[in-house]
Amino acid sequence: MPKPLNIALVGSKFMGRAHSNAWLSVNKFFDLPRDVVMRTVCALEAKETRAFARKWGWDRATTSFDDILDDETIELVDVGSPNHVHAPQSIAALEAGKHVACEKPLAGTLDDARAMRDAARKAKRRGLQTFVWFNYRRCPAVAFAHQLVRKGKLGRIYHVRAQYLQDWGGPDTPLSWRFDVKQAGSGAHGDLNAHIIDMARFITGDEIVEVSGAVQETFIKERRVVGTTGKGARSRKRRGKSTVDDCVLFLARFKSGAIGSFEATRLATGNQNGNRIEINGEKGAIKFDFERMNELQWWDNTLDSSLRGWSRIMCTNAGDHPYVDAYWPPAHLLGYEHGFVSQAADIIRMIAGRKPVVPMPDFEDAYQTQRVLHAAVLSARERRAVKMSEVK
Ligand SMILES: NC(=O)c1ccc[n+]([C@@H]2O[C@H](COP(=O)([O-])OP(=O)(O)OC[C@H]3O[C@@H](n4cnc5c(N)ncnc54)[C@H](O)[C@@H]3O)[C@@H](O)[C@H]2O)c1
Repeated sequence: MPKPLNIALVGSKFMGRAHSNAWLSVNKFFDLPRDVVMRTVCALEAKETRAFARKWGWDRATTSFDDILDDETIELVDVGSPNHVHAPQSIAALEAGKHVACEKPLAGTLDDARAMRDAARKAKRRGLQTFVWFNYRRCPAVAFAHQLVRKGKLGRIYHVRAQYLQDWGGPDTPLSWRFDVKQAGSGAHGDLNAHIIDMARFITGDEIVEVSGAVQETFIKERRVVGTTGKGARSRKRRGKSTVDDCVLFLARFKSGAIGSFEATRLATGNQNGNRIEINGEKGAIKFDFERMNELQWWDNTLDSSLRGWSRIMCTNAGDHPYVDAYWPPAHLLGYEHGFVSQAADIIRMIAGRKPVVPMPDFEDAYQTQRVLHAAVLSARERRAVKMSEVK
């Protein structure tokens, strides 16, 4: 009987729920070499964290990260806290001899990300692994697009057109850590461009070598402060500065010679979670939109011209499409949560020395995405093209 895998999770809100659900269900859907034990959840507020632990099946709740470090039985620390906490928590967990699965972006700043990468390199020599929750890689349609490119089905790639469009960041949205540069590092950029840079790198297998033409804008400069002490009308009127971008657009050149455009915004009215990528190659093209996440649009340019057209592939066939065999029959659709469950399965496989179904981003890999984020910030600030070789 293999040893159970004791896990600790940091964070109990949005990602806390997504990850808890993944750890709860991963051994039910997948046959895996290790069984998960949900040992400890850690978050800021004691009463809430206790209630969260009861609801989601964690054995223990704590507000002290040191409790996780001190527990020698915990093998994997899952970091789902805000971005500025990723580096101190991940590095401390690696130094304490634990594997780490960290949320994206790897960090708020390039310096933090580099420190994490260096700690991961050191820890790797001791047999420790790192993982980053770029969960969209594990949507079957995205993983399938990656496989199509690897098989050469698109041929030479000319264009990558990536957008991550959300619209929740209007003037009525109050301040939170997401609008504070010290905690988040950036706004839509690190939050959303990080995902589509990772997806572009993952699907094409190519690396960005130059970033240019970046523009960033903060449309909503002040936001309502909520949840502060203070009384009545005065506190309701309190406003604070948003210190992050609301949107960032940039252009990119890839090593292969392909060119790309990237756009991330929280103010694209009418787009709630428009995580989209289109890739045009010599032999074919693909289009993906997370709002229709089970589908991949495919254009086969090798067909007779009279037969060419976009076809809608429902990526839900066990055997044909990655991860689907763990879930439901064809066209019994998957949702947002399944990407996390499938990633949890690959993390367990890798800790047991097996291979993931599709490549898993570790800290080294996510650091490359962070370098591209940084290059775009430089390009916007200095209004120039930035070669990736400038960003160490
Ligand atoms: N993969 C994705 O698609 C995706 C989606 C949303 C968020 N994220 C990432 O997940 C992370 C968390 O985002 P969220 O939306 O869950 O945030 P959230 O605000 O909903 O929750 C943050 C949680 O972290 C806890 N926390 C804050 N500081 C802490 C500390 N020092 N020690 C322990 N716990 C602490 C809070 O108590 C809270 O439970 C961020 O890095 C974010 O970028 C990823």
